[in-house]
Amino acid sequence: MRKNIVAGNWKMNNDLKATRKLVKQIKKSIEDKDLNNTRVVIAPTFVNLATAVKRSKKSKLEVAAQNMHQATNGAYTGEVSGEMLKSIGVKTVILGHSERRAYFGETDALLAEKVNTALANNLEIIFCFGEELTDRKEGNQEAVVESQIKNALFQLDSNAFKHIVLAYEPVWAIGTGETASPEQAQDMHAFIRNTLASKYGSEVADSVSILYGGSVKPANAKEIFSKPDVDGGLIGGASLKVDDFSAIVSAF
Ligand code: 13P
Repeated sequence: MRKNIVAGNWKMNNDLKATRKLVKQIKKSIEDKDLNNTRVVIAPTFVNLATAVKRSKKSKLEVAAQNMHQATNGAYTGEVSGEMLKSIGVKTVILGHSERRAYFGETDALLAEKVNTALANNLEIIFCFGEELTDRKEGNQEAVVESQIKNALFQLDSNAFKHIVLAYEPVWAIGTGETASPEQAQDMHAFIRNTLASKYGSEVADSVSILYGGSVKPANAKEIFSKPDVDGGLIGGASLKVDDFSAIVSAF
C-alpha cells in the first residue's frame, strides 16, 4: 500500500538555531501521534541538514535535501552532490521544485539527469512539477504536467518508481494563499496516475505516492487529503510553524 507523506519544504528559511528549535518541536509534536501510514519529512537548507539528521535520529522524523547537483563530483563550485547527501545520512532529495525551475533555469532535461544521479546514489526522490497560471487559464495544465513527467522520468524502468514520490505543485498556488480546490487536485492527481499507468501499468501507478503542494494550511489540509489520489502534501510556509505543521500531519 502506498504511504501518506507530509513533507515540509523549509526553502531558504531557518538558521542553525531556528533549525535546532523547530526540529525539536516537530519531533515532540509527532512523538505521541499515531501516524498510521504517514511519513513525516522536513527539508532544511543544505548547511543545516547534518544537524537536522543528527537531531532526528531515533525519531519518526525524516530529513530530505531541497536539491542536489547532477554530477557525481568535480569542479562545480558551490554545488552539493548526491554522494555528499548520502554520507551525512540524508535519504531523500526534492528535485524539480518550481522555484528551481523558475529562478535557476532547471529544465526537464537537466532534471532527468538529476533524477538518474539521485537514483544511482540510492536516494529517494520527491519529484515536483506543476503548471503556471497561464497554462491553467488556457486549459493546458494536463499537457504541461504530462510533458514535465515524461521528459524527466520516462527514461526510468518501473523498479525506479519504488524510490519516487511525485509532488504536484501548481505554480499559481505556491505561496499565494490560493489553493487548488480539492476537486482540482483530485482531477490532476488522477490524471498523473493515469499518465504513469499508460507507460508502467496500473500496479506501478497505484504504488506511487502523489503529494499536493501549494498553500496547504491546517484549514484546508483535511479536505485535500481526503481525495483518493492525494497521498499527502508538500508544505512550504505552514511547515515553518510547529502548530500548523503538526495540525497538517494530524489531518490524515
Ligand atoms: P506554500 O505552502 O508556501 O504555498 O509552498 C508550497 C511549496 O512550494 C512546497 O514545496
